[in-house]
Amino acid sequence: MPDPDHLPGLENRITSETSFDLRPGDCVEGMKTLSDESVDLVVTSPPYNLGIKYANYSDNLSSEAYLAWSLEWATEVNRLLKPGGSFFLNVGAAPAQPWMPHEIALSLRNLFQLQNTIHWIKSITVEPRDSDPVSVGHFKPINSKRFLNDCHEYVFHFTKSGKVPVDRLAVGVPYADKSNITRWGHTKGKDKRCRGNNWYVPYETIKHRSKDRPHPATFPVELARKCILLHGGDPGEMTMMDPFLGIGNAAIAAAHAGLGKFTGFEIDDVYLTEARKRLGA
Ligand SMILES: C[S@@+](CC[C@H](N)C(=O)[O-])C[C@H]1O[C@@H](n2cnc3c(N)ncnc32)[C@H](O)[C@@H]1O
Repeated sequence: MPDPDHLPGLENRITSETSFDLRPGDCVEGMKTLSDESVDLVVTSPPYNLGIKYANYSDNLSSEAYLAWSLEWATEVNRLLKPGGSFFLNVGAAPAQPWMPHEIALSLRNLFQLQNTIHWIKSITVEPRDSDPVSVGHFKPINSKRFLNDCHEYVFHFTKSGKVPVDRLAVGVPYADKSNITRWGHTKGKDKRCRGNNWYVPYETIKHRSKDRPHPATFPVELARKCILLHGGDPGEMTMMDPFLGIGNAAIAAAHAGLGKFTGFEIDDVYLTEARKRLGA
């Protein structure tokens, strides 16, 4: 039976009435035109400064310049975020730059509280006690005598107070041991528990990279959808933003969740056009 929390092909089922404002150009300039405390939720993944070959953007700043720029755009995110809002920041590392995700997170410590650290697992092997190991998911293998293959990225959940309530059961999972349902009063008889902070979210299977996922560094729609659900609240009343839209996976997740409004910025017209196409806009 398919896992109802991970439905493939989400982008093919956009039915909501979300109002989209997708803007070309630099997100720092774009965000400056928006009002203070007007956004409930930010789910984004900036360039990681790892030399990724984007169509136009150059992903090769010095570390100092990159961290200074991160602070610049995150300051705008801070200004726009409501006091009870959530900012989910997805960043990955490369073997040669293992500190980078942590340096970005640390550089934002005067702007936000780090409320949760989520590990986005792309591939994992589990070793049940009574059967053979089972491997799921995919990763891009590296040929190295020093480094393990990198099968995960971070999603830092920042808030302004560190005390924003989240809807853990909206992304919850059934109990493996059903006797826990009656054993623990807090279950209120429901077969749902918190899934924890290791989220296995594989990329959707595609046939043609250039046609189906024409961007070198995307996150799955499902990852953004889980962030939306975890933040909780009345979807129709919520405004979400992705300053680094890419080909629009956060926007597709917003549509799927039925959010009221979504604003996105993308400096590269090729990716913005693709995002609009995928949203049917
Ligand atoms: C890691 S990708 C985001 C991919 C996106 N999450 C998706 O799933 O499609 C970062 C994106 O930021 C864009 N970008 C880089 N600098 C930007 C800027 N100053 N303002 C807006 N977009 C920018 C790049 O062109 C790239 O598409």
